Amino acid sequence: MEFQKLNATHFSCGYLELLGNLTIVGEIDKETWIQQLDEINLHANIEIYVLFNSLENKVVANGTLLIEKKFIHQCGKVGHIEDIVVDPKCQGMGLGKKIVEHLKERAKEVGCYKVILDCDVKNSQFYEKCGFSAKGVEMAYYLM
Ligand code: ACO
Repeated sequence: MEFQKLNATHFSCGYLELLGNLTIVGEIDKETWIQQLDEINLHANIEIYVLFNSLENKVVANGTLLIEKKFIHQCGKVGHIEDIVVDPKCQGMGLGKKIVEHLKERAKEVGCYKVILDCDVKNSQFYEKCGFSAKGVEMAYYLM
C-alpha cells in the first residue's frame, strides 16, 4: 500500500466508487473527471492523496488537503482536511489514520499553523484518535 498523489490513472482504479462511500458522487465520465483534476492541479493549494493497492490495482483510501493562505497570524496558512474515506473492505486496518497523519505532515511541511476539519459526530472519536479535538460549532448553508 503506497501513498500517491491523485493522477489520471486512478480513474480506472475504483476512484469514484471509493468516494461513493463518503457521499453522493453522481455520474461523471472520464473526460469530465480529468478536466476537473487538471483544474485542481492548477491550484497549488489543493493536494489530493490516495493509498494505492498495486496488487489489486485499486485505490483504497483518499484524503484532501486544502491550504488556505491568510493575512492573520502573520500571513499564516491553515490546512483543511477534506474527503477522508477508506474502502469498506479495508476499514479498521489503520488506513484512515495513516492518510490523516500524512495530510497533517504535509500541512506542517508547507507551513500551516493548524489543521482543521468538519465531520459527523459518529466520526469524532476517529479524529480524536488522530489527535484532533472538538472546537467551536460546524455550520452549513446549502445553496443547492
Ligand atoms: N468511531 C470510533 N472510533 C473509530 C471509528 C469510529 N467511527 N473509526 C475508526 N475508529 C478508531 C479505530 O478503532 C482506531 O482506533 P485504535 O487506533 O485505538 O486502534 C482508530 O480510530 C483509527 O482507525 P482506522 O482503522 O485508521 O480507521 P479506518 O481506516 O476505518 O477509517 C473512516 C475511518 C475514514 C472514518 C472510515 O470509517 C470511512 O471511510 N468512513 C466512511 C467515510 C467517512 O465518513 N469519512 C469521514 C468524512 S469527514 C472528513 O472527510 C473530514
